[in-house]
Amino acid sequence: MRCSQIHSFNIPVTPPDLSALSGEEKARLLRLVERWQNEPAALLTMILEIQEIWGYLPERVLEYVASALKVPLVDLFAIREFYDLLHGAPVPARIGLCTNTPCAVRGGGRVARLLSEALAKHPDVGLHLEELPCQGCCDLAPVAVLPAGGRRETGDWRPETGNRSITIRLTSGAASRLARALVRGEGDFVSQLKSPVSGLSTGGRVKLTPTRVAYRNLHRPEAHRLDVFRAHGGYATLERVLRTSSPEDVIAAITDSGLLGAGGAGFPTGRKWGAVRKAPGDQKFIVVNADEGEPGTFKDRPILERDPHLLIEGAAIAAYAVGTTQGFIYLRGEYRLARERLACALAEARGAGFLGGRIAGTPFSLELHLRLGAGSYVAGDETAMLESLEGRPALPRVKPPYPSDHGLFGRPTLVNNVETLAAVPAILERGPAWYRGLGRNGSAGVKVYCLSGDVTRPGNYELPRGLTARELIFTHGGGARRKTPLKAFLVGGASGGFLPPGELDIPLEIASLRAKGADLGSGAVVVVGAQSCLLDLARRETRFFAKESCGACDPCRLGTPVLVKELDRLLDPRTRSQAETRIRELGAALLDSSRCGLGQVAAFPLLSVLRHFPDEIAAHGPGRCPVGVCGRGPRRA
Ligand SMILES: Cc1cc2nc3c(=O)[nH]c(=O)nc-3n(C[C@H](O)[C@H](O)[C@H](O)COP(=O)(O)O)c2cc1C
Ligand code: SF4
Ligand code: FES
Repeated sequence: MRCSQIHSFNIPVTPPDLSALSGEEKARLLRLVERWQNEPAALLTMILEIQEIWGYLPERVLEYVASALKVPLVDLFAIREFYDLLHGAPVPARIGLCTNTPCAVRGGGRVARLLSEALAKHPDVGLHLEELPCQGCCDLAPVAVLPAGGRRETGDWRPETGNRSITIRLTSGAASRLARALVRGEGDFVSQLKSPVSGLSTGGRVKLTPTRVAYRNLHRPEAHRLDVFRAHGGYATLERVLRTSSPEDVIAAITDSGLLGAGGAGFPTGRKWGAVRKAPGDQKFIVVNADEGEPGTFKDRPILERDPHLLIEGAAIAAYAVGTTQGFIYLRGEYRLARERLACALAEARGAGFLGGRIAGTPFSLELHLRLGAGSYVAGDETAMLESLEGRPALPRVKPPYPSDHGLFGRPTLVNNVETLAAVPAILERGPAWYRGLGRNGSAGVKVYCLSGDVTRPGNYELPRGLTARELIFTHGGGARRKTPLKAFLVGGASGGFLPPGELDIPLEIASLRAKGADLGSGAVVVVGAQSCLLDLARRETRFFAKESCGACDPCRLGTPVLVKELDRLLDPRTRSQAETRIRELGAALLDSSRCGLGQVAAFPLLSVLRHFPDEIAAHGPGRCPVGVCGRGPRRA
């Protein structure tokens, strides 16, 4: 299906007058439309690239795209409105601050206060503060996104497109220096920051562990290059599988290995592959979910940036197993280095005969295309992602039917996470029994845990499924940072729950965690020290869900803002017990009746605080917070 064929009806639009554009702008626009218009599932990617010309999407330009592609203009407006990275007007210069739990725990609230005070005193600086969701680099927390290379004297703050912003770890010390530089009117304030400023790649540090599966090459320098990848056996498993194994053999091996999806739901991968294989239809698709948006999660980023060929190899094996020749990698729009590396790796793989027609001289063919997300957490849901690829706002679909029967363009579709697919080559090379045996406490295999927050060594750890939280946090992560007493740990990111230190011996596997009101999810584990307020953190998570709710179903659209209000009523002993009852009722209603996982789990963090931390709630009163975070004055960002 072509970019221009995704709509079942066409509304003719008079070609707009482009004379107001400069020659160069017009040439770039025409080149982009020409480049993308015949590419499958490319509308959003094309729009994002067009936006890079101006930093926003002028109406004239959308009119032109509508007329060139013969799609209704109103559909393009709907897309522009839906995705956070798309803008209808020039973006005011801003400093973005991540407000999710891992950044809050590491002092993000104080950073926000310092900067907002400085900017409020000096509005002439011309910058404003903006709350951002998790940027996928929580090991660097607290994280800020700054305009790069702006010169205040000329008012030349650039909108954040292309490479015009930088993501940075902004401690309170650095924030104080930044605030001083801003009020002194120093344009090039970024160079004054002593904390490490990232290049294109940001965070997602990998802590090497003895057993490497999805992270098998990350200790090698330059593993993203095809020659390096091949020198260490890359693509050999794909070649062997294509020559010697049937698709059914591959599915059986993956099923026997016990591999579970690493994207959040933990669904058995072999079973999913079997369902897509069996689904009737000549045309099927594979979609690689590289949208990594769960707060606290930064595990796919290193694979995408530093080992993209491993992902391609895993995806090609999966495509062979389920019987498809077409696939898409849906990449988080903010991951700039990953975008470059993947584009390059796809071209290299095509050139070397590992993608395209008759791969490795066998009858199997696969086209794999890179497509970009545009700043929507809910687009990470598999059905929302399919909507997005079809060129619409990412609204989750009602399930069933499941993507394995009725997926992209109505065809059977396999959706798998990056880590899941990157594990496949090692499993097929060393055997399902080897992989299964890596797990602990009754679990099979390994998982990458994203450890962040008040911990000595934050980072990504590939370790056995079923190891205990204590081993992860203390043996591997070095325990709580600066010996701060541990108050809680959040397992499963925003979709999970807070657990008390008494639960540190819980195995990190799905069933044990769910029984305690948490979840393994995508593997995020956030350590919370004594100076953090759990109600403040639960509020952040709940507000995140309320903001990211797509509004397609009533329980979530209406219920998530009510949860935030009820959370505030918890602070007052007079309304506390009523609020607790209401939160429990709402949580049950959301779980039962929301269309997608976002609404279903929106109350989980708050419910876990009610369940495990009654003393923390009781210690609050109007204007009183036991650690002085949430009861004083206005809420912090
Ligand atoms: C709101 C929401 C956001 C999600 N975000 C992601 C994501 O960023 N990455 C991901 O792989 N899965 C995400 N998922 C899970 C996907 O829907 C799907 O289960 C997963 O991609 C399947 O791959 P797996 O079986 O390999 O885990 C999300 C689900 C929901 C409900
Ligand atoms: S649960 Fe929320 S995010 Fe999911 S479809 Fe409904 S409104 Fe949208
Ligand atoms: S980068 Fe701030 S929470 Fe992930």
